[in-house]
Amino acid sequence: MSEPESDLPEPTATPAGPSVMVLFGGAGDLTQRKLLPALYYLRRAGLLPDELALVGFANRELSLEQYRELLVQGIREHVDGPVEAAIVGWLTERIYYVQGDFRDAGAFGRLQGLLAEIDQEHGTDGNYLYYLATPPSFFRLIVDQLGRSGLAEEKEGRWRRVVIEKPFGRDLESAQALNHELRAVLAERQIYRIDHYLGKETVQNLLVFRFANGIFEPIWNRRYVDHVQITVAEELGVEHRGGYYEEAGALRDMVPNHLFQLLALTAMEPPNSFAAEAVRNEKAKVLQAIQPPTPEEVLARTVRGQYDAGALAPDLHVPAYRAEPGVAADSRTETFVALKLQIDNWRWGGVPFYLRTGKRMARRMTEIVIQFKRPPFMLFRATQVGRLTPNQLVIRIQPEEGISLSFGAKVPGPVLQTGGVNMDFSYAEHFGVQPATGYETLLYDCMKGDATLFQRADVVEAAWTVVAPILDLWSALPPRSFPNYAAGSCGPADAEKLLTQDGRRWGGQ
Ligand code: BG6
Repeated sequence: MSEPESDLPEPTATPAGPSVMVLFGGAGDLTQRKLLPALYYLRRAGLLPDELALVGFANRELSLEQYRELLVQGIREHVDGPVEAAIVGWLTERIYYVQGDFRDAGAFGRLQGLLAEIDQEHGTDGNYLYYLATPPSFFRLIVDQLGRSGLAEEKEGRWRRVVIEKPFGRDLESAQALNHELRAVLAERQIYRIDHYLGKETVQNLLVFRFANGIFEPIWNRRYVDHVQITVAEELGVEHRGGYYEEAGALRDMVPNHLFQLLALTAMEPPNSFAAEAVRNEKAKVLQAIQPPTPEEVLARTVRGQYDAGALAPDLHVPAYRAEPGVAADSRTETFVALKLQIDNWRWGGVPFYLRTGKRMARRMTEIVIQFKRPPFMLFRATQVGRLTPNQLVIRIQPEEGISLSFGAKVPGPVLQTGGVNMDFSYAEHFGVQPATGYETLLYDCMKGDATLFQRADVVEAAWTVVAPILDLWSALPPRSFPNYAAGSCGPADAEKLLTQDGRRWGGQ
């Protein structure tokens, strides 16, 4: 008899090596809400070395004490459960601040001086992780300044890495220009483009689920799969980000990044290893295999929407997008998008991939539905069974993380009848829930130099290539029916039609 797997020793992760993390825009929201709490959790898990320091670089006039207090406040507000004073103290004493304008070369000179002192004091070895928690309009300027001051140069075994957050451009041309500008100063291996969806456990589990199990991969193709659906529905509206969102819209904000990452992990070929290049080569290949839609296909296979006032619950009324702060009263920005895409390769040719995402939808839900082909019916012709329900595999990313497989079973009794049943796996029930921000693995991996979960330039450009024709046609033909769905609903009626015209429906079956 084979040994139960649970007897295997627990694998242990080793702490990251010495480094200084420099947070550009380090007095902002992301630092407080996500980055500092993530560092707190990493330290608690024993994954940060003593040779670590943090430097905030921002324009706000703050003394070192005030800056430290600001970050500690972020930890207190955003860490789950009681905060351990020892960890907060440990973090506080290695936080520093440079007040300055990103345009000011003198400020970068001050940063350089401070980093040299920190290396002496904390043994951080000249390894610097620059986190650009700033609006994208500053990316180029900051990277140029790093280049000019010699702070981006890797020599004598020291590493220098730059983390940037989406949006990586606003269309193909600007993404290419940004990549070009970054690479004028940095090697591609120094650039870590974050997509926070890849920090989610269930997203990382997609590859394990597909390739560490023998039963799914043989049927994961056009012979057995009828279609795939990827939904990222949010209950949230645009919050305080109206200004940004007016320029972006749902397509740019969510599709070439988060939804395409989910699609790539669902559809890619098995990589030879988890090494960054092996995984990213396969992602690039599958995204390059998506057919960019023709203008006719954009008209027939894409749906855009904007939310009107509505109710998320009987007593929770919310305003229309056009009434949100920072949004134009006649805004034509879409807050919902649904697409039907085709991946033109041997595995997926002819299998539609339906994608949808929207704000102010009925409930928060991110999931991937793999719907298998309906079985032949002949055996059941002379029975009471009216139709057979196709099998469906649902991978739930959030809010409850899990996987379920539906299949037909005989309903007990003398008359042959079938009913749909589910096999269900819940992450929380099985593994418990560890409080996390979703940034822990990503930060740890940057410090370790593992770029597997980060976007490579060609992956970003492949994604924009697919959405480019949609952006073009949509801007040439402004929407006439906005707003076209009520907050708290499932999106515009046309999104339902996109599937019903193919004899399918969202949620499958
Ligand atoms: C961000 C988008 O990248 O992802 C937001 O800019 C969106 O508009 C968010 O709300 C969704 O992330 P999550 O992790 O809450 O699904």
